[in-house]
Amino acid sequence: MSRLSEIRELVYRELRSMPEEMERVRAVVHLNGVCLAAALISAKRGVHQELAQIAAMLHDIAAYTSGSYEDHANRSAARAKTLLYEMGGMRDDEIAQICTAIAKHDDKHVVDGPLEEVLKDADVIHHTLHDPSKKVKDKEKARYDSLCQEFGLGMRATNA
Ligand SMILES: [Fe+2]
Ligand SMILES: [Fe+2]
Repeated sequence: MSRLSEIRELVYRELRSMPEEMERVRAVVHLNGVCLAAALISAKRGVHQELAQIAAMLHDIAAYTSGSYEDHANRSAARAKTLLYEMGGMRDDEIAQICTAIAKHDDKHVVDGPLEEVLKDADVIHHTLHDPSKKVKDKEKARYDSLCQEFGLGMRATNA
C-alpha cells in the first residue's frame, strides 16, 4: 500500500469519531477534493506531489474530529505529526514539511513556501469549484483570481 493510501485509511479511521454521518461524508469529500487539487497544482509547479497530497488529506483533521475551527490549522498539524510518526515510514524532514504546510494553510493572505502555497491554493480550489454557484469568500478572492490566471480558467463573476 502506498504511503498516501495508508494515510487515507488513517484519516478515515480518525473521522469515525464524528457523530454526524453527513458531516463525515462532507469531511471525506473535502479532504479528497483538496488532495486531488494538490496533485494537479504540485505537478504543474514541480512541487513534491506525494507530500502535498498527504498534507491535503490531513489539513483539517482536528477541525473535523473536534467540531471546532478554533486554531484548527495548528491543532491539525499537531495531530498529523502524531499520526505520521505512529504510522512510520516517513522521514523527520518529510513530516516537518507536511506539518508546516498544515499549520500555515489558513493564512490565505500570506505567501509562504512552495508546499505551503500548494496546500492553500488546493483548499481554495475545492472551496470555489466544488459548488461554483457559491460566492467566493473575500479572503480567497485574490488566490482564486491568480489560480484562474495560472490555469487559464475563464474568470467567473466573483459577486464582488
Ligand atoms: Fe482549514
Ligand atoms: Fe480545508
